[in-house]
Amino acid sequence: MSAPLHPRLDPACFGEPAARDERFTVVDIWHDCVNLPDGHPEKAQEFFHRQMNEEAAVLENAARSLWEFPDADWDLRMWLARQCADEARHTENYRRLFVSRGGRLGQYPVLGFQYRILGKVHTLIGRLAVQNRTFEADGLDAVTHAITEAREAGDDELAAVYDAQQADEIVHIRFANEWIKREAARNPRALIAMGQALALAARGFQQTFDREGSRVSKYGVAEDLRTQAGFSPEEIQDFVVITEHRRAIARQDAG
Ligand SMILES: [Fe+2]
Ligand SMILES: [Fe+2]
Repeated sequence: MSAPLHPRLDPACFGEPAARDERFTVVDIWHDCVNLPDGHPEKAQEFFHRQMNEEAAVLENAARSLWEFPDADWDLRMWLARQCADEARHTENYRRLFVSRGGRLGQYPVLGFQYRILGKVHTLIGRLAVQNRTFEADGLDAVTHAITEAREAGDDELAAVYDAQQADEIVHIRFANEWIKREAARNPRALIAMGQALALAARGFQQTFDREGSRVSKYGVAEDLRTQAGFSPEEIQDFVVITEHRRAIARQDAG
C-alpha cells in the first residue's frame, strides 16, 4: 500500500508508510499534527496518543530489522527481539493511559516519519545508529524531563510509566552502542554506511519537523543516563553543544 508523500518531503528520505487501521489519520509533517500550546487541557492526552504511535513505530522498526537481517549476530537478534517486547509494552502503556483518561483512538493525527525514514536505511548499522542511538537517545532525554514534570504535577501513575520506560530505553540505546562499536572494529567501512544513514535521517527529520517543530524540544541532555546507555564523555559533550545550539535558536525565534 502506497500513500502519497507530502510534497514538501524528499522521497529519497522516506520509504513506505507503516500500516495503520482506518481509525487513524497518518500525516507526514509535524505541522499537520494537533500541536497544542503549553497549559492546554488536552495537551497531555494528545501527547499520549502521539507517543503511542511512535512506540508502535519503534516496535515495527526493530521487528523489521529482525526480519531483514536474519544473519546478524545472534546476541543482537536477541536484543532486538527483547526490544520488540518492550516497545509493545510501551505502546500499550500509552494506549491504556490515553483511553483511561477519556481518549478515543484515532482522535488526533499521528506522524509516520520514524517508520518511513528507517525504510530508506538499508544497513543494520545505519538502522541502529538512527533508531536506537539517535531517535531513542532523544527520547531518553525527553522522558527524563517528563518524569520530573509528572512528579511535580503529582501524577504518580504517569511518573511510574515514564520511569519504567526510561529503564528500557537505556538498554535499547546501550545494546546498539555496544554492537556498533564491535562492528566498527570488525569492519571500519561500516562507519561510512552509518554516516550516510545519519545524514539521510537528519534530512528527513529536518523536513518533517521544520524549524517550528524543532523549537518544541526544550529539555536538555540526560548526561548521566546517556553514560549508562554507553555514550562516551566526548559524545555526550557533543550532544550538549547541539542541544544548546537548538535552544539558542528557540530563544531567537521566541524573542
Ligand atoms: Fe519505547
Ligand atoms: Fe526503545
